[in-house]
Order: sequence, then structure tokens, then C-alpha cells
Amino acid sequence: MSGSARIEVMHGVNLDMLGRREPEHYGTLTLDELERQIEGFASEIGMEVGFFHTNFEGEYVEHLHGLRGVVDAVVLNPGAWTHYSWAIHDALAAVALPAIEVHLSDLKAREAWRQLSVLESLCVTSISGQGIEGYRLALQRLHRELGGELA
Ligand code: DQA
Repeated sequence: MSGSARIEVMHGVNLDMLGRREPEHYGTLTLDELERQIEGFASEIGMEVGFFHTNFEGEYVEHLHGLRGVVDAVVLNPGAWTHYSWAIHDALAAVALPAIEVHLSDLKAREAWRQLSVLESLCVTSISGQGIEGYRLALQRLHRELGGELA
């Protein structure tokens, strides 16, 4: 890998409600505050991060399409789309970028309908239930996947 790896972090439906939404599952940070934390995690390991959020599935798909050849990998938290959006599955398959899905809450400890991730099979790994730390773990894992050494 030459130069810093560039990672796109994509937040999906309802993630803009962080800080005001079920803090027992999602914590108290707002989306802006979460992004500042993720920037800190990225700079610790010399990665560049960009962010995208939408509540519209088609926009999420189109943004994914545009990432091919632009970034090295993606970190996805598509919110509830995780559990049923075959459209996002197919978009991720089409761009064929290394991807990790991150969920703030512990999906395995929640409702039965959250147990399925339609994206999992396309991801290097899935991280859930680690809160914001999950994003640090995802960036570290992608750093290794992309051939970087951790200090
Ligand atoms: C979530 C888990 C999803 O089941 C839920 O629909 C979300 C957030 C998480 O980060 O824990 O919106 O992806």
C-alpha cells in the first residue's frame, strides 16, 4: 500500500438520530461526535477517513457505486437496512471493495429479526456490540488487510 489508506465510513438509516435515540443500545454520542472519534482512531494509524450518511436507500447504493477506484475500503453501518437490503448487498458486491460492517449495539442479544445480516457474507468481518470502539477495531483490521503495519 503506498500513501495513506482511504476509508469511507457510511452511516445508514436513522444513524443521524444518534444521541437522541435509545441510548441504552446506541450510546449518547451524536453522529458528529462519533465521526470526530472515528477521525481520531484513523489518525492514530495513519488512515484517511471520509463520511457519508443518508436515510435514503437509493442514495446509499449510489454512493457505494461511486466509491470504486476512489477509496481502498469501506466501513458500513447501514442501520436496519443491514437486515433486509439485498440492494445494498448487490451494490457492495458490485464495487468489490474490502468492507467491514459495524453495529454499535449487540445484534445477537436483540430481536430475532436483527440476527440476520444480508451483508455479512461480503464483509471481511462483522463487529457488533462494542459501541464506538467497534469503529476503531474495524479500522485496525482494514489497516492490516490492506497491508499496513501498526506502530
Ligand atoms: C444498528 C443495529 C440495527 O439493527 C439498527 O436498526 C440500527 C443500528 C447498530 O448500530 O447497532 O439502526 O446498526
